[in-house]
Amino acid sequence: MNEQIMSEQGPTSFLVFSASLRKDSINTLLAKLAAQIIEKNGGTVDYASMSEFDCPSFNQDLEVNDFYPPGASEFKERILANDAFIISSPEYNGSVPGLIKNAIDWVSRYRPQPFNERHSLLMSASPSMGGGNKALWSLRMPLEHLGSRVFPDMFSLAVAHKAFTPEGTLADEKLSMRFEQNLVAFMGLVEAAKHYPCIKKAWVEFLGEKTDMVTERVE
Ligand SMILES: Cc1cc2nc3c(=O)[nH]c(=O)nc-3n(C[C@H](O)[C@H](O)[C@H](O)COP(=O)(O)O)c2cc1C
Repeated sequence: MNEQIMSEQGPTSFLVFSASLRKDSINTLLAKLAAQIIEKNGGTVDYASMSEFDCPSFNQDLEVNDFYPPGASEFKERILANDAFIISSPEYNGSVPGLIKNAIDWVSRYRPQPFNERHSLLMSASPSMGGGNKALWSLRMPLEHLGSRVFPDMFSLAVAHKAFTPEGTLADEKLSMRFEQNLVAFMGLVEAAKHYPCIKKAWVEFLGEKTDMVTERVE
């Protein structure tokens, strides 16, 4: 795998972060574990904290003189600086936490639109049996809408408060293997897309949509 990932253009780089601001976040534990596994398999990790990307509530009235909050500009720069991004998100009330959707909304206002054609992988961790999986379906929707290539396989860690060893690995050996396999499969796809960018698409909301001044937010 290492030899495959390394190339003339350097290793494939991944922005990895948890969409939780909480100090003892289980999603942060999962994001850190993902970062370790990516590095072990020859990728480069740009690890970020959600506090770097946190933004005030989106308000179109603030969009004066090219204003963007610092969190949005940081999020945009880090998306563009890497080949792909990985989010480990909590589930709040059967959906995605507002703060990550809010940050995505801010970043979506840049042109060219930064999420377009960027590969992404979604993960979640929750004390519940569902592992926070519903958050990922909610998170997939805006990202796909914005043209991100969201990896089909998502990883949701159930009973996550009891799932980690003191060293931060997954206690269940088979689950640990499945987690690594999911990450390595994603790495392979990002690597292939980086060197063989054969799938290009225009970012529009609906392919049949007319482009005029009213729909100018699409490209
Ligand atoms: C406002 C709120 C809503 C929540 N809703 C859900 C939920 O719908 N499903 C779920 O599995 N856990 C839910 N939880 C529990 C979170 O999964 C749990 O607090 C988790 O530890 C949050 O992730 P973090 O540790 O990464 O911050 C909720 C927690 C909060 C604070």
